[in-house]
Amino acid sequence: MNEKRSVDIIQDALFASSVFKEGGENTLNQSYIPESLKYREDNIRRMTQNFRPLFLTQNKGIEGFSTNLALTGPAGIGKTVTARYTIKHLKSMAERHHIKLYTDYKNCWTTRTKTSILRSFLRDQFGVASRGFSDEESTDILIRRLNSEQAYLVLILDEVSVLPQKDIRGFIHLPEEFGAKHRISLVMISRPTEWKVTLSSMVSQRIADVIQFDPYLLEETREILTYRANLAFKTTAISEEILDMVAEISDQTRNLRHGIETLYRAGRAADQQRLDELTPELIRRAKNDVFPEMRADIFEELKTHELFAALSIARRLHHKGITATTIEHSFKNYRIICEEWGLRPNGEAAFRNYLTTLETIGILGKVTKGVKGRKGVRARLTIHDVPAAVLIERIEVFLSRRFQKS
Ligand SMILES: Nc1ncnc2c1ncn2[C@@H]1O[C@H](COP(=O)(O)OP(=O)(O)OP(=O)(O)O)[C@@H](O)[C@H]1O
Ligand SMILES: [Mg+2]
Repeated sequence: MNEKRSVDIIQDALFASSVFKEGGENTLNQSYIPESLKYREDNIRRMTQNFRPLFLTQNKGIEGFSTNLALTGPAGIGKTVTARYTIKHLKSMAERHHIKLYTDYKNCWTTRTKTSILRSFLRDQFGVASRGFSDEESTDILIRRLNSEQAYLVLILDEVSVLPQKDIRGFIHLPEEFGAKHRISLVMISRPTEWKVTLSSMVSQRIADVIQFDPYLLEETREILTYRANLAFKTTAISEEILDMVAEISDQTRNLRHGIETLYRAGRAADQQRLDELTPELIRRAKNDVFPEMRADIFEELKTHELFAALSIARRLHHKGITATTIEHSFKNYRIICEEWGLRPNGEAAFRNYLTTLETIGILGKVTKGVKGRKGVRARLTIHDVPAAVLIERIEVFLSRRFQKS
């Protein structure tokens, strides 16, 4: 290829026209906070009301203020974005009222311990390198700093159930170390199963308000996705038909993220194929990619019995109204599935190991501090994000192929 043409390729890839508006692609990022959050007005109001005392204090900053909130609700319905939105605006409101308010957002999947959360906060906000400090020392620095600046901190802990229990307790008891002048507030976000099973008994006495998020209705989903699509795409690139399709996809799983990701991927694919609008075919293809934990290569890594185990849980959860199952129940299903595929089942200990693997790669959400039943405390099993029907279908297709090959 001559030099001229190679340069043309680069020129073209950089500047050829796009279905996205300028900067539009970024508005479909997970971390993007839109200007308006439709149908979350009540949640925003309720979150904010908990911070009223902060603004009512006469001698601003001298008195302490602390509250702990819990946000809970199923996947992809705006818990994270609503928390970030509210805290962002609370901060600017505080500025206007000459109240010094620090805010921070941590996803506990990325920052997995209390120590690392405290350290990164001290580093980012105060420029303090606290490496090598103990938790107590870090906390001490934080407290002194907030006290001396007469400042407050609101910390969002997203996916909080990922933290070790002692760390969650540590955070909840943090304000006590201030004595009378509490200055740290927490917003803890978790899914309902994690909230009910592990968190609520542990922290609920110290939570001022538990704010429940409900899934959007189809019409609401469509309206929100239309708004998000208009932020991201040129008007000529999207049609009503496409919006209907994407709303439908989101509505199937009642997860708005699936719709937003479908839009994003379809947009990227349109650009790659030099199309100037999103087509139904692009949407259909993109839809199949939006369950990241479901990519076929993840199945390749799993042993056949591990796939049977995943299937055993998915089948149980496929029944209407069942959101979690138990090891005992799934083990029974697993034995049946082995029979169906003509393999000898392994024992319960091996089965439990399969579950651990599935949990590690993110297909399975295991909540070990289980419900008390007749047989004592039992683990509860859930699957992440993916609808059970989709999981069943894909595993079965994959298994048939694997069996054919061998
Ligand atoms: N009312 C809304 N208006 C605009 N965008 C929204 C709204 N609600 C949610 N979104 C968008 O939908 C996507 C999913 O929302 P979010 O990440 O907040 O879900 P979540 O409830 O935290 O899910 P998970 O439990 O999986 O973390 C995000 O891209 C978010 O910006
Ligand atoms: Mg979230």
